[in-house]
Amino acid sequence: NTDLSNIFVIFGGTGDLTYRKLIPALYNLHHENQLPEHFAVVSIGRRDKTSEQYRNELVDSVKQFSRFPFIEEAWKTLEDRIYYEQFDFSQDEGYYHLKEFLQQLDQKYQTNGNRIYYLAVAPEYFGFIAEKLKIHGLIENQRSWKRVVIEKPFGRDLQSARELNQQMIQVFTEENTYRIDHYLGKEMLQNIMVIRFANALFEPIWNHRYIDHIQISSSETVGVENRGGYYEKAGALRDMIQNHMLQLLTLTAMEPPINLKTESIRDEKVKVLRSIEEFTKETVIKNTVRGQYGPGKIKGKNVSGYREEERVSPTSTTETFAALKLHINNFRWSGVPFYIRTGKRMPSKSTEVIVQFKQLEHTLYFKEYKDYLMPNLLVIRIQPLEGVYLQFNAKQPGTKNHIVPVKMDFCQNCQVGSNSPEAYERLIYDVMKGDSTLFTRWDEVEYSWKLVDTIAEVWQNQPIVFPNYPSGTWGPKEADELLHRDRRRWWNVG
Ligand code: BG6
Repeated sequence: NTDLSNIFVIFGGTGDLTYRKLIPALYNLHHENQLPEHFAVVSIGRRDKTSEQYRNELVDSVKQFSRFPFIEEAWKTLEDRIYYEQFDFSQDEGYYHLKEFLQQLDQKYQTNGNRIYYLAVAPEYFGFIAEKLKIHGLIENQRSWKRVVIEKPFGRDLQSARELNQQMIQVFTEENTYRIDHYLGKEMLQNIMVIRFANALFEPIWNHRYIDHIQISSSETVGVENRGGYYEKAGALRDMIQNHMLQLLTLTAMEPPINLKTESIRDEKVKVLRSIEEFTKETVIKNTVRGQYGPGKIKGKNVSGYREEERVSPTSTTETFAALKLHINNFRWSGVPFYIRTGKRMPSKSTEVIVQFKQLEHTLYFKEYKDYLMPNLLVIRIQPLEGVYLQFNAKQPGTKNHIVPVKMDFCQNCQVGSNSPEAYERLIYDVMKGDSTLFTRWDEVEYSWKLVDTIAEVWQNQPIVFPNYPSGTWGPKEADELLHRDRRRWWNVG
């Protein structure tokens, strides 16, 4: 279906996500002339306000969070198409009225009955809202399309994810369900496949014969901010590893897809998840590390520990840092460890995939001290810098034969004026086009929960002393030991 016209219906219209991400993304798309001609937005919220008041509130959010300057005229043409509807989505009456209202807007904007239902609400309401939409006839009409977008978390373990999915598939088919993982909307994640599969330089050596190991690391300087309530039930494992980090892993490790069709790519990603060596209690204890930040300093400023944060228990055992080592059991990756690490309140904000190549079999230099020769590294920088750099050895100019590592650095967003699209722009646009390549398929969710559940269960039954890393450091010392004992180290490229 190539008809992009639609009404974009947001449940949770007065929530943070809408103000910070969705509306600014729509403004950016509008600015780039990418919104369909026939288009309207209906935001639903519990608070009482008029569309006029709502639009005024959005001005600030666009000014603050859009990557383009606020242009009065551009905003005007978009805001005229944004409506606010006040109702409590747990009550039936609202849906009757919504249906009528959307039909009126269909007439006005010629949107053909096409809908995107964006559920920017807590996941416990996903199933409920979907069911109400169905009961009240907001899904029917064969000649139009109806898609639903849901945000993570998709459950808190495999069981609850399955239940949630059961509820959703009563209403929306898999094809029409768009599970957002905003990391997939990031430019450099999409670039991983291009770097791997469009370069004669990399593709042939992307395997256990040449690669020593791979590190996937995502550090943040922020703490839990005002999300203590949610985070207490999640922790780094569920909040970051189950979704974003495993997406990075699958893109890095997948086999080349037979073509670029959505399902061909997703099939290969799922195969990676299925090939991950299952954790046992012993390997969880040996190959995973969790941490929780204590008080410390970030960029010279004192910050409090996790247990002192708002809506966090003073005896909380929730992890704000997780690191693990895993193996992918297939021909390509036999014997190559993958180290994954993520944490809050670390010294810098950065996300990177670091490929460390094996040393040459034979060496001419540093014969006795082979380890002095720095390894070749390929670093795919996801954020905040976007780019790729390659580290290799070269002779230092001079009369002595000193060998030093040098790097070739391609930075895609270092030039002044570079302005990469926001993840949400790309993802919202894809939902309108009906392209679900950059969304998580159900079986990806299922396999990633299986992995995470095993780890979570062992952790739950193992006592731990928290906090175990001060804010502003690279996590607990066990995370360093995880690599040191394999005679490796984390590369904090930053
Ligand atoms: C979210 C997590 O999904 O990703 C947050 O819930 C985390 O805890 C955020 O801070 C990180 O996203 P980004 O785009 O800033 O790396």
